[in-house]
Amino acid sequence: MNNMEHILQGWEDFARKIQPPHRSMDVHELRDHAREILEEVAMELANPDFARSRDASGNTPAEIHADTRAVSGFSVDQLLAEYRALRVSVLDLWSRREKTATWFEVEDMTRFNEAIDRALAESVSRYSEGQHQAQDVFLGIIGHDLRTPLSAISLGATYLMRSENSDSKLIQLGSRMFNSAERMQEIIDNLLDFVRSRSGLGIPVHRTEVDLAVIAEQIIEEFRVSNPGAVIHAVLEGDVRGRWDGARIGQIYQNLIGNAIQYGDGTTVTVSTLARDGEAVLIVHNGGTIIPQAVQPHIFDPLRRGPEHAGNRKNMGLGLYIVREIVIAHHGTIDVTSTEEEGTTFTVRLPRQAE
Ligand SMILES: Nc1ncnc2c1ncn2[C@@H]1O[C@H](COP(=O)(O)OP(=O)(O)OP(=O)(O)O)[C@@H](O)[C@H]1O
Ligand SMILES: [Mg+2]
Repeated sequence: MNNMEHILQGWEDFARKIQPPHRSMDVHELRDHAREILEEVAMELANPDFARSRDASGNTPAEIHADTRAVSGFSVDQLLAEYRALRVSVLDLWSRREKTATWFEVEDMTRFNEAIDRALAESVSRYSEGQHQAQDVFLGIIGHDLRTPLSAISLGATYLMRSENSDSKLIQLGSRMFNSAERMQEIIDNLLDFVRSRSGLGIPVHRTEVDLAVIAEQIIEEFRVSNPGAVIHAVLEGDVRGRWDGARIGQIYQNLIGNAIQYGDGTTVTVSTLARDGEAVLIVHNGGTIIPQAVQPHIFDPLRRGPEHAGNRKNMGLGLYIVREIVIAHHGTIDVTSTEEEGTTFTVRLPRQAE
């Protein structure tokens, strides 16, 4: 590796080109661990059995490199691009030196590629590990730290609503504040569940003995209070007690009924909870604008909203995604039908007991 300086210059030029715009790095930062990574690769080529170098805490140069790039705000794509540039510039020098590759050089080149791949894998896995930790911190903040100030707001709002000497304006203000705080909590909960299930953690389910009739009734009552204009028709059939996660099933009702009221254009919303052979069936129906046939297969995708609601920034398009995740966690199914004649119907089937 006599061409070290040449290669390092190429790496530095490339890193400078792709570095995040809000920050300019000095030469030392740009080259940071390139030299060590390359030296390692060279040693590995010379002697396949050589002992890999590690710093005092046991990190390899490729791992340290990933850490510094993450701190500098490089994306994982940029990290990959850097390695690609390194590989290309070395192979380029090589091919200019050796016009005709003999077996020996082909073998060398293969080993070089392997060594780069290994360094790359180390960098990427270290980088994503860091991302997971950042995600956990983020989850902790929205999940826990925001809950406390929000409940203080709710409490203050309740005080305004109930206070003896409040005039009607204050009562109105209080109830609007209260509803907004509730809505914020809902968004935070949805976001939390979304991040959790996306990062492969899944939605945790804690089964206890619950009665869906009680859950449905309570949530429908809450909707009637907060939406005095809405007509909600409740249907109950049979014994709908079973072992499910009550709070999670509550989220299903919450999201489906909330959607039906929001998108049902003032039509009657019918919420049915039915006992069937070995399962409970939850059906939420509304009229109004239908979900176009072409959109229906994607309606449960995260961050997906109907075309006519795409501009509305109040909602995030997470509700149905989370509903489906909860249903799946209960080994159930969810379907939608939406036609001009029949209106929009969401049907959830929950097996009574999952093995
Ligand atoms: N009952 C319904 N009737 C008509 N359209 C619906 C109904 N439920 C959902 N939709 C359509 O499906 C889209 C996705 O719904 P989803 O609940 O996932 O997200 P959202 O309501 O837009 O946002 P969020 O629930 O996160 O606040 C909605 O934007 C709407 O266009
Ligand atoms: Mg919704």
